[in-house]
Amino acid sequence: MLAGKRILLIIGGGIAAFKSQELIRELRRRGASVVPVLTRASEEFVTPLSVSALAAEKVYRDLFDLSDEHEMGHIELSRAADLVVVAPATADLMAKMANGLANDLASTVLMATDKRVLIAPAMNVRMWQHPATQRNLAALTGDGVLSVGPVDGDMACGEYGPGRMSEVPQIVAAIDAALSDGPLKGRHVVVTSGPTHEPIDPVRYIANRSSGAQGTALAAALRDLGARVSFVTGPARVPPPAGVEVIRVETAREMADAVAAALPADAAVFAAAVADWHVVNAGAQKMKKTAGGMPALDFAENPDILATVAGMSSGRPGLVVGFAAETESVVDHATAKRARKGCDWIVANDVSAGTGIMGGSENKVHLVTAEGVEDWPRMSKTETAERLAARIAEAVAPR
Ligand code: C5P
Repeated sequence: MLAGKRILLIIGGGIAAFKSQELIRELRRRGASVVPVLTRASEEFVTPLSVSALAAEKVYRDLFDLSDEHEMGHIELSRAADLVVVAPATADLMAKMANGLANDLASTVLMATDKRVLIAPAMNVRMWQHPATQRNLAALTGDGVLSVGPVDGDMACGEYGPGRMSEVPQIVAAIDAALSDGPLKGRHVVVTSGPTHEPIDPVRYIANRSSGAQGTALAAALRDLGARVSFVTGPARVPPPAGVEVIRVETAREMADAVAAALPADAAVFAAAVADWHVVNAGAQKMKKTAGGMPALDFAENPDILATVAGMSSGRPGLVVGFAAETESVVDHATAKRARKGCDWIVANDVSAGTGIMGGSENKVHLVTAEGVEDWPRMSKTETAERLAARIAEAVAPR
């Protein structure tokens, strides 16, 4: 997929810039060519000479370099690529991008480009978690900018948490997906996945056994067909796929808000195992054992995200797919659920204990549509995902 592709790589000024040199090697090994742009700050971390040697290309460094402007102006530079990649994307670069600043070569190229942009953020944990960075990320995502990472890990600054730039293989996978020419190219799909956690108090919560495996496999399969995927995930056991926009939530209500924010979409697939209820009188402090017996928990119903999206009078995704995890009368319950929720398809599976499906690596599903019920054979969750993604691609008319 990468052979013959031309990637404009903007290297931001962060300690992770050293990984970008490895990224250049890997992209070239796969047949892509890489044109590097260095910000002034990145030259503190990598040298133009080493980057140029690895890329076997001229390194572009400064907006007002008259000889560069003579050879290839910043507008041309921004267009003569199949994809623009920013790695590492620092908090500063993200802020500039989100606000449309164009005061150096990198930011000007990012404003002038007509190509897709993929960022691989890298920064200190607190900088990443800062509301300003999260606001900027949301704005960039809304503008169609793709992102990969960051991931949790030890940071050069001695802290631990999200902020480490994704490793080179993950970035390469995300680049692959961004350049994919599949049937879902240019399409946006929202996928929910994983369990939700509904707090009882600050240390306890109500959860379920969903691992997030099927939703994650589906997001990856949709990505591989070229879709831009917004992946709204509860606290799942399996890590989210590379090359999708990951929106992490904890509760059903947060998931509902995140889905609403991610719309509009061409299709929405609700693979999450959402808790039906949340505790209204969740304790602000840890609940103590008392002589009076067990504490009384009051419950209120969670928003039904699937039914809400399926019932949207305007802006409804063209295809709305729900899942039904049942332990008996699977097809009957799923058929009734399809009607009740107002969705187009239900993917139903038997999650009773003996099947090993919930939390396992295989699935056996029935696809319930307006046309009837299809019984699919037992296969890996990855194969189930690929087959479902292919069906979604058929249903979502090509642009
Ligand atoms: O009603 P039930 O939980 O069995 O429905 C399952 C389907 O509905 C799944 O697709 C699930 O993701 C979705 N759902 C939802 N919001 C809820 C409950 C379920 O989106 N509050």
